[in-house]
Amino acid sequence: MPTASYRPHLHSIPIQSDVPGALPISTSRRPMNRRQSMTILVLAPVLLGVSAFVTMAVKDQSYAPSPEYAPAGEPSRQDAVVYYSRSGHSEAVAREIGRLLNAPIARIVSDYSLSLTGQGKALSDASDKALPSIEVESIDLRPVQRLYLVSPTWLFRPATPLWSYVEQTDMTGKKVVLFTTGNSRFEQSEIDAFAERVEARGGKLVRHVFLRRGRIYWQKNREELLEEVRANMA
Ligand SMILES: Cc1cc2nc3c(=O)[nH]c(=O)nc-3n(C[C@H](O)[C@H](O)[C@H](O)COP(=O)(O)O)c2cc1C
Repeated sequence: MPTASYRPHLHSIPIQSDVPGALPISTSRRPMNRRQSMTILVLAPVLLGVSAFVTMAVKDQSYAPSPEYAPAGEPSRQDAVVYYSRSGHSEAVAREIGRLLNAPIARIVSDYSLSLTGQGKALSDASDKALPSIEVESIDLRPVQRLYLVSPTWLFRPATPLWSYVEQTDMTGKKVVLFTTGNSRFEQSEIDAFAERVEARGGKLVRHVFLRRGRIYWQKNREELLEEVRANMA
């Protein structure tokens, strides 16, 4: 029976640290109140989101560009590749498709820098479904029967520059194959909306391939991504 002078109270007994000379560690803790638990519950996903957003920007800025590609000799006349890529992954995919078909290739350029600001602009334009101004490398689409469009996924749909491209391109009679890269997922309703815009320009979306690179902290490397491209083109 504890006496008045000896009242063991587990929460207030200092225990010795394993580190010699270290100060005793107090285990006294007050249980978290409801408000503190709620704050942690709300803040945790926000912090995770911010950290993923910043990690994505850092990774994008350090990505090594894929080897250049140009068709060898006489290029295919019936196939062509047009792509937009902000941080290089869709560019690697587009170049691989070009290489497999020996097809001409053209890059869409738009003003989304690799900085955090550029990433923020990409996010807000994607959310607004904006049609940004673009420049496209020169390519002769007249003989092309099958047009490969390649783009990243932004907010579950192809990135905004690809939509701008469709709006300003005559696709009469062309079959369109869409390749999108992404970390996680796309919305089929957005692909259907994209197919409608292709159709409005005279083309037909005959296939969509989504290449999932994996969540920001555990992603496929370039060779694994290109292996998937080859498997889809076989
Ligand atoms: C603004 C923004 C929005 C994104 N939204 C999605 C998304 O909805 N789904 C997805 O799978 N990936 C999403 N991502 C990840 C990119 O699609 C992915 O990293 C892509 O492979 C990048 O291609 P790039 O290197 O050719 O620009 C998003 C990236 C950014 C910058």
